[in-house]
Amino acid sequence: MNTNKASTINLLALAAFLATSLLANTSMAAETYDADKYGPQEPIVWTTPTKSTFTHKTHTMDAGLACDSCHEKIFAMERGSAEKAGDFSMKSFKEGKYCGSCHDGSTAFNTTTQCGSCHSAPETPIIFTAPVKAVSFEHSIHLKKGGLTCEACHKEVFAMKKGSVEEAEKTGTHQGDKREYLEKLHNKYCGTCHNASQAFGYLTRCTVCHIGVKGNNALQGGDQKKQKHGDSKH
Ligand code: HEC
Ligand code: HEC
Ligand code: HEC
Ligand code: HEC
Ligand code: HEC
Ligand code: HEC
Repeated sequence: MNTNKASTINLLALAAFLATSLLANTSMAAETYDADKYGPQEPIVWTTPTKSTFTHKTHTMDAGLACDSCHEKIFAMERGSAEKAGDFSMKSFKEGKYCGSCHDGSTAFNTTTQCGSCHSAPETPIIFTAPVKAVSFEHSIHLKKGGLTCEACHKEVFAMKKGSVEEAEKTGTHQGDKREYLEKLHNKYCGTCHNASQAFGYLTRCTVCHIGVKGNNALQGGDQKKQKHGDSKH
């Protein structure tokens, strides 16, 4: 039938295209990107206070922006200068500065969305160590199995910074009913989802979270009954 023929032709064309682009990629990868025309090829990566990445290619070659749409009125042509200014932050972006002068939801996607386009989640588990040891949180489970976006947690529940729960709870005084206190604590964080409807409930499966992480010798296991005093492996 016609459609079959058409798709065979398309497949052949695709195969030819793939073959040529494969060749192009292997033999002249360095030459295909013109840094004079599109800006430095190497991504610009910030690491403090959190990690984020900017690539010239996606802005110049792909989105068609000219150098002067950013240089010098938004960014100096020097790595590190925005950071030095001291106000290179999400707050400034929301006020329309730096990345936020375009990433406002009209020229380009808003910085209140798609956190994962500019930021990347840590690959190693985050271990909460206080007030009780060995609560393990893995981003990959939540992103893959849970199918969640960064915004599901980082807009309201968690700061995008290790230790912020512990910091917030350090001053929290544990008064009155222990059970009520624990429920409040869990409901504020993991329990916003781990409520037996969106994800397994925290009230039933304590040791799924409160458990030593495999291979992590520093941990003695969050299950207090199994914890032997003085048995710390560092
Ligand atoms: C969408 C915004 C944007 C556009 C468009 C853009 N740049 Fe940049 N450029 C940046 C940012 C952000 C930095 C890093 C500035 C900082 O760290 O303060 C940068 C830095 C640079 C640097 C310094 C790199 C280094 O390692 O010090 C050069 C050179 C540069 N850009 C060249 C260009 C050229 C050439 C073009 C046009 C082809 C261009 N840029 C277009 C945003 C842009
Ligand atoms: C268009 C790119 C972009 C998007 C989208 C984006 N960020 Fe950022 N973010 C940055 C850059 C650039 C910085 C400053 C340098 C750094 O610390 O990495 C930053 C900094 C931060 C910081 C450090 C402290 C602060 O407040 O500035 C946090 C936390 C953060 N982003 C969280 C988020 C969250 C949560 C989202 C999604 C709701 C998000 N970001 C979306 C680019 C982006
Ligand atoms: C002059 C306008 C402008 C500025 C300034 C700007 N961007 Fe963009 N950015 C765009 C446009 C346009 C696109 C493509 C359209 C879209 O994705 O919404 C884009 C796309 C992106 C993408 C998606 C690339 C992809 O994977 O397709 C990322 C990530 C990004 N920008 C990060 C940043 C960061 C980080 C900064 C600040 C350091 C920044 N941008 C500053 C205009 C800008
Ligand atoms: C299910 C909730 C959840 C989701 C979804 C999630 N995170 Fe997180 N993230 C956390 C928790 C919890 C922490 C640790 C907070 C603490 O220690 O107080 C954290 C911490 C971080 C940190 C700080 C790491 C450090 O070493 O300081 C970064 C960066 C981060 N997340 C990025 C992301 C990005 C990018 C995405 C999306 C791709 C994402 N997260 C999705 C819950 C989540
Ligand atoms: C935004 C919602 C959300 C938040 C907040 C959240 N989780 Fe989850 N979590 C999920 C979903 C969805 C799954 C996958 C479905 C399931 O296992 O019930 C999951 C799965 C898990 C698993 C894997 C369970 C298994 O059987 O493999 C663990 C462990 C876990 N979460 C721990 C935590 C911890 C610790 C926190 C707090 C630091 C947390 N989660 C916060 C939504 C969330
Ligand atoms: C979805 C993950 C998760 C589950 C399930 C869970 N917790 Fe927690 N729990 C946490 C996190 C995160 C903290 C705060 C960080 C820390 O203490 O290490 C915490 C803290 C605690 C604390 C310390 C509070 C303090 O201030 O002294 C106790 C005690 C506790 N949990 C008991 C339990 C019990 C009992 C269960 C089962 C009924 C349970 N947790 C189930 C994640 C979980």
